[in-house]
Amino acid sequence: MSLPTPHDEDGPAEVLLPQEMLAQFSTVNVCAPMVRYSKLAFRQLVSQYETHITTTPMMLAKEFSRSAIARDSDFSTNSLERGTFYMDEIRRAAPVVELDDSYEPRGILETPRRRKRKVRGSLIVQFAANDGQQLADAAELVKPWVDGIDLNCGCPQKWAYQEGIGCALLRKPELVRDLVRSTKQRVGWDFPVSVKIRVDPDLTLTNELVRTAIAAGADVLTVHGRTRHQASSAHPVNLDSLAFAVECAKGDIPCMANGDVFTLEDAEETRRRCNVRGVMSARGLLANPALFAGHSQTPLSAISEFTRLSTSLGLIYPLFHRHVSYMLESHLPRKRDRTYFNSLSSHAGVMDYLEEEMGLELKSGGKATGLETPLTTLSL
Ligand SMILES: Cc1cc2nc3c(=O)[nH]c(=O)nc-3n(C[C@H](O)[C@H](O)[C@H](O)COP(=O)(O)O)c2cc1C
Repeated sequence: MSLPTPHDEDGPAEVLLPQEMLAQFSTVNVCAPMVRYSKLAFRQLVSQYETHITTTPMMLAKEFSRSAIARDSDFSTNSLERGTFYMDEIRRAAPVVELDDSYEPRGILETPRRRKRKVRGSLIVQFAANDGQQLADAAELVKPWVDGIDLNCGCPQKWAYQEGIGCALLRKPELVRDLVRSTKQRVGWDFPVSVKIRVDPDLTLTNELVRTAIAAGADVLTVHGRTRHQASSAHPVNLDSLAFAVECAKGDIPCMANGDVFTLEDAEETRRRCNVRGVMSARGLLANPALFAGHSQTPLSAISEFTRLSTSLGLIYPLFHRHVSYMLESHLPRKRDRTYFNSLSSHAGVMDYLEEEMGLELKSGGKATGLETPLTTLSL
């Protein structure tokens, strides 16, 4: 790939495709696509806390491919948003050693130590689409800036279903096949295309969808362990259905499991129960962007960093406020404190609150943000 490679004292980080990361490392942590929320400032924040792959919010391929204004408002990236990580390579079996009479232990039979490799994180753009040419157009435009695209087959909202995108694709495997194929044919078979699905109440349909997506050339499968009609707030994730969907992939491509990961223990449990290395979190990361680094609540330093990033990257106030509100929730056990924070209506008010009530030192200025030209310069 021709993306920039980060360097520092201990040499360059390896740049791998998302599916290579999932195949080669035992633990891969992923930030879910989140409309409004998984924008640049948040992605850059979670990348500082052991989140190896990040995903943009869902964007409409149709709008993205035809409107420079849509591209400009929906997508921005920079050279710093991907993190650099020291990742645990998957253990290989110990080499078989033939013993003879003169054998003396030389240490070769010891369990091989886990090798850490320095790796650059990945950025994936998520699109909603129901037309292969539109998805291919959008993918072609965004390709130079990202490490892959993801096809949304999980958005349950009514408007999306009526448009024939998101969850509407769950029972249209032949359309998913066309979308994946058209994109691969246009942008190249080496450019990663992943597919994010929900499980179906009829698991034979899940099997059909998974097998069709793989046959079409999908490189990664993400499974959200809820059905189209199960809201996250009302239904716990179904790890058995999720594990079934992973089994349907038969190891042909790597899978990522998604649903109810709020702590590092949840992540480990999901990995174990679903037999995956990649685990994706949405609401858990909103509440605690440092969860994959093992923090039990948002460290205050992460809130300072988010404030710096939001200011330098120009995040709009309502979004900045909502993010900080999520991050502060566990720091503010009293309802009246949360209500007060939620009533703040200006950037200055939030900054004052963070300094005076939370003891943060919010210095102006700071590190460069590495903002690059957004996609306005690329129009069809
Ligand atoms: C605020 C918010 C926005 C979301 N936006 C998207 C989206 O753009 N694309 C998508 O595939 N899923 C989206 N989702 C669903 C999540 O990616 C994820 O599948 C779901 O929340 C379950 O994960 P969780 O239990 O970790 O929250 C969104 C979820 C939330 C909470």
